[in-house]
Amino acid sequence: MEFLSSVLLLCISLSIISLYLLLRTSRHRNLRLPPGNLGLPFIGETLQLISAYKTENPEPFIDERVNRFGPIFTTHVFGEPTVFSSDPETNRFILQNEGKLFECSYPSSISNLLGKHSLLLMKGNLHKRMHSLTMSFANSSIIRDHLLDDIDRLIRLNLESWTDRVLLMEEAKKITFELAVKQLMSFDPGEWTESLRKEYVLLIEGFFTVPLPLFSTTYRRAIKARTKVAEALGLIVKQRRKESEEGDGKKDMLAALLAGDDGFSDEQIVDFLLALLVAGYETTSTIMTLAVKFLTETPLALDQLKEEHDQIRAEKKDSLEVLEWNDYKSMPFTQCVVNETLRLANIISGVFRRAMTDIHIKGYTIPKGWKVFASFRAVHLDHEHFKDARTFNPWRWQNNSGGTTNVFTPFGGGPRLCPGYELARVELSVFLHRLVTQFSWVPAEEDKLVFFPTTRTQKRYPINVKRRTMYGEAM
Ligand code: HEM
Ligand SMILES: *[C@@H]1O[C@H](CO)[C@@H](O)[C@H](O)[C@H]1NC(C)=O
Ligand SMILES: *[C@@H]1O[C@H](CO)[C@@H](O)[C@H](O)[C@H]1NC(C)=O
Ligand SMILES: *[C@@H]1O[C@H](CO)[C@@H](O)[C@H](O)[C@H]1NC(C)=O
Repeated sequence: MEFLSSVLLLCISLSIISLYLLLRTSRHRNLRLPPGNLGLPFIGETLQLISAYKTENPEPFIDERVNRFGPIFTTHVFGEPTVFSSDPETNRFILQNEGKLFECSYPSSISNLLGKHSLLLMKGNLHKRMHSLTMSFANSSIIRDHLLDDIDRLIRLNLESWTDRVLLMEEAKKITFELAVKQLMSFDPGEWTESLRKEYVLLIEGFFTVPLPLFSTTYRRAIKARTKVAEALGLIVKQRRKESEEGDGKKDMLAALLAGDDGFSDEQIVDFLLALLVAGYETTSTIMTLAVKFLTETPLALDQLKEEHDQIRAEKKDSLEVLEWNDYKSMPFTQCVVNETLRLANIISGVFRRAMTDIHIKGYTIPKGWKVFASFRAVHLDHEHFKDARTFNPWRWQNNSGGTTNVFTPFGGGPRLCPGYELARVELSVFLHRLVTQFSWVPAEEDKLVFFPTTRTQKRYPINVKRRTMYGEAM
């Protein structure tokens, strides 16, 4: 306790000094900071931020400050002064100028979990090259020709084992993990995948202990789990490197990394793969769960979705027949549901960046070195951009003339646009196809949305499922 409080005192006095220096230098340079409140020394408004998001209201922290200060404001969270933007134009400016005026910025607790060779932490030319490699691994022609078959089969097999009560979020996580492992390194689901996933869950938990990682047992456990996951992946990489020298003909992400002219080390490849698993796991499984929740609460939408998918199934021999690219392309209402879920649920609520130089925007200056948070959620839930923004209304995307799509950025944009955006959409669409054609369901318990530390439901959305009998199939 003694030690802790002296550390805390030291931190507080250091931050008072640095805040003082900061304010002094900014006065000297005559900067006009965005209006706002820096809160208490050191902790700033972090506690307000955390407690605000423990409510059911999706955007209380930002709403309150936007009302007081306007769409761009200054606050102080997680140990640093930070400019928040809920302005779509500013957000686009931030995303597009990645690597020029802004660069991505993660606390060391996060980069230690990701590993330094992950795409999320790369910069400059190497980032450019690896980003386009990742894009070309998950682009639509690759999904059409190689990945869709596996996606459909894996989802169908997973759903086959469902009876009675299902914890939807858990099932969705299992599915997305199996898919990722299959796509990255051609492993079929089995004991190996499942035991890797157990460690993985511990690793992911570490990401959500951000405020005080050093005092957290969850964080220490996550670091240990990372070592184990990295070891397991390392063995696979070693083995595949040997096989690829003999020409194993596999066509997955790992093959692309091994064949690259860059001569990546095993450690680099492991970090890279591990971060891809992280980026696609929690996000895609959350969107699957929340789409089902929103649909359950909007029976008209669910009916229309069912109709669309029954139509596709009716053209096929039986439920075993695979889904094809043309089928995916004839799901217009499903695409509205996907967008509406991404808009309303906003799994990645926004992105942090750091100003690489003094930046002048909208009459304000963001000082060099300051953090910036471009909030997607604040834009997506703004009534100015989306009528009745806080209700689930997939029909709003019908006859979409493109008016809203340029403020809709669930996958970010610019040089760091999510390379998995198409893959995530396809996975969710196929999941919905298999779900609505094979099952009907009711929620097993009341379960509500929470927004901190991530968007999810409190109880992992338990449902009671019943198999549908149709097309004369024996069940
Ligand atoms: C619903 C699902 C998903 C959502 C909402 C989502 C959202 C995002 C967002 C907003 C970013 C930008 C981060 C930034 O600008 O700093 C991002 C980056 C990224 N995403 Fe996704 N993502 C999803 C699924 C996936 C999947 C399935 C993959 C697997 C391929 C993936 C891989 C990545 C990677 C590697 C990055 C880092 C890109 C970079 O820094 O260059 N994501 N994602
Ligand atoms: C997708 O990537 C492959 C290489 O992996 C490339 O040959 C193809 O042209 C790309 N397709 C699209 C639509 O970008
Ligand atoms: C869904 O959003 C994307 C932008 O992420 C847009 O390109 C697409 O047209 C939208 N789909 C529909 C059906 O509106
Ligand atoms: C979209 O267009 C169709 C026919 O043009 C119309 O019946 C429907 O009401 C429109 N939907 C919306 C949400 O505007």
